[in-house]
Amino acid sequence: MIETKGLRKSFRSRQGKQTKTVEAVRGVDLMVREGEIFGFLGPNGAGKTTTLRMLATLIEPDGGEATVAGADLRRQPGEVRKRIGYVAQGGSTWDECSAREELVVQARMYGIGKAEAQRRAVRALEAFQLTEYADRKCKTYSGGQRRRVDIALGIIHEPKIVFLDEPTTGLDPQSRAHMWDEVRRLRTEGMTVFITTHYLDEADALCDRIAIMDHGEIVAEGTPAELKREVAGDVITVGVNGTTPQAAKLLDTADYVSRLETLDGGGLRLYVDAGATAIPQIMRTLEGAGIALGSIELHRPSLDDVFLEKTGRSLRES
Ligand SMILES: Nc1ncnc2c1ncn2[C@@H]1O[C@H](COP(=O)(O)OP(=O)(O)OP(=O)(O)O)[C@@H](O)[C@H]1O
Ligand SMILES: [Mg+2]
Repeated sequence: MIETKGLRKSFRSRQGKQTKTVEAVRGVDLMVREGEIFGFLGPNGAGKTTTLRMLATLIEPDGGEATVAGADLRRQPGEVRKRIGYVAQGGSTWDECSAREELVVQARMYGIGKAEAQRRAVRALEAFQLTEYADRKCKTYSGGQRRRVDIALGIIHEPKIVFLDEPTTGLDPQSRAHMWDEVRRLRTEGMTVFITTHYLDEADALCDRIAIMDHGEIVAEGTPAELKREVAGDVITVGVNGTTPQAAKLLDTADYVSRLETLDGGGLRLYVDAGATAIPQIMRTLEGAGIALGSIELHRPSLDDVFLEKTGRSLRES
């Protein structure tokens, strides 16, 4: 459904007298299959939105190639636009319009007849639990309600693929869960969903495959399970109340620790082969050196650990 090769984009911006160049996207190769939910993860400024805007024909790449839904991005941008839906990070609803009006106008702009546009609006309002507010102006909606209108607008014309840029940011847990259900429903209807998110649990629960982006590059790609398997063994976090450097020095040389990271907020993250046997060893090592253990926690690798392994930083902390 999407294939990109070496997609690049730089921005030049002026700060006073100086011109600065930001390499927002530096050579992205991606492959998104038909009918999958593809997750795009990465910290602020990684280049996710820039990639999406290129794929949606909103900005032109500086280099590289892509096909989107069977159309060539550079040679057939009009065809790409017909076949996709795009929900911007900042949304696109109008203050003075109601959700119903927005939906009908959007459908009409894609060439759908009036009666059918109205039918689709009713269906979308129901699917996104907006019927109650359907005829109120968008400016009176809550953030979550307005976000749901954005998403309904992105799919009203039944595109082959929809790009959702952080659709669940700012939603309460219940609305977020409901949004996940909606996204899954789109997949069962055969739509391909390309979604960006900061939430690791969301990517894990929702996405068939994931790409992790950092500094304009893809640093990892695969199913959530594959990515987590890449981080071998178990992860243990240790809190040692103010004696982190001493504890780090001790544990870094221990033969049962394969890797050690010092966390920004204090504490240590240890990569070990087997957590169950490492925990008593850690406790003995620290006790032997007179270091008081504040907390110890064992967990299976998460997507955050994958990110940490690939970039040396934690996605949460960055
Ligand atoms: N129009 C622009 N002019 C100058 N710099 C830009 C422009 N658009 C994006 N950038 C820069 O490009 C980089 C990538 O931005 P982008 O919006 O793609 O990141 P992102 O991964 O979507 O981040 P977030 O998670 O915060 O939404 C950032 O450093 C950003 O400041
Ligand atoms: Mg963004």
